[in-house]
Amino acid sequence: MKLMFIGDVVGSPGRKMIDEYLPKLKKKYNPAVTVVNGENAAGGKGITEKIYKRFLEKGAQAVTLGNHSWDNKEIFSFIDNAPLLVRPANYPDGTPGQGYKIIKVNQLEIGIINLMGRTFMPANDDPFRKADEIIEQIKKRTPIIFVDFHAEATSEKQALGWYLDGRVSAVIGTHTHVQTADERILPSGTAYQSDVGMTGPLDGILGMEKESVLNKFLTNLPVRFEVDKGREQLNGILIHFDPSNGRAQAAERIHISDETPFYE
Ligand code: FE2
Repeated sequence: MKLMFIGDVVGSPGRKMIDEYLPKLKKKYNPAVTVVNGENAAGGKGITEKIYKRFLEKGAQAVTLGNHSWDNKEIFSFIDNAPLLVRPANYPDGTPGQGYKIIKVNQLEIGIINLMGRTFMPANDDPFRKADEIIEQIKKRTPIIFVDFHAEATSEKQALGWYLDGRVSAVIGTHTHVQTADERILPSGTAYQSDVGMTGPLDGILGMEKESVLNKFLTNLPVRFEVDKGREQLNGILIHFDPSNGRAQAAERIHISDETPFYE
C-alpha cells in the first residue's frame, strides 16, 4: 500500500502544479492516501478555506501546516470545521484546530501527525514528547502513522526520525523547501527523509522572488517578499508500507520540473 506526500505548496504557482499534476500522480501511483503540506499555499503564507477545499477536490485526504499556520487570518474562521486540516501538534494547549487526525480510507485507518521543530523556529512544546503522547493514542486504533515534521534543522529532523523509528510508518521533513536525497527506510521500519521539498516556483529563493530576498540579505532592511513567477516544480515522496503492521517497505522521491518532466 502507498502513501503519497506532496511538499510545501507555495502560492499560486504551487496551486497550479497541484491542479495539473496531483490527479495525474494519483492515477500513476494509485496511493491509498495523499497528504499535502499547505502552509505556504495562500500567497506564500498560510492557507484559506477555498485552497484547503481545492486540495481535497484534487485528491488530497489530509492537509498539513507549519509555522505559517496563522499568517492568513481566514484560518481562524474555518480550522475548527476543517476535519482534514492538521496544524502542528506541539502548539501550546488551547490553540485552535488539531495536531493529528485519524483518517479512514477503504476500511483502513491512518494517523496523520504534524509537528514543528524548535531549533531556529518559534518556541513551542517539545515535539518529541508530544509525539510520544499522540502515538500512544493513535496506536490504539491503527499502526499506520505518518508524521510531517516541519523543522529547520536537519539534525532535529534526523533525531526525530531515529526517535520514532519502529513506532510510525514515516517521518518526513518539510519547511526548508529543498528536496533532500536521503530518503531511506530506518532499521525498524520507518521511512525517513530530511525534507520532501516544495511545490511552486523553481527559480526564486525558497519560492520567493529572488530580488526581494537578495535585497534583504544586502541591506537587512524590512522587505516584502512576493511569490516568484518563473518556472515551476513539484516535489513529493511515495512511501510503500505494509498495512498489517504499518512498516514502511520502500520510499521513492517524486520531482517534476522542466528538466525532469512527468511521464504518465
Ligand atoms: Fe515553514
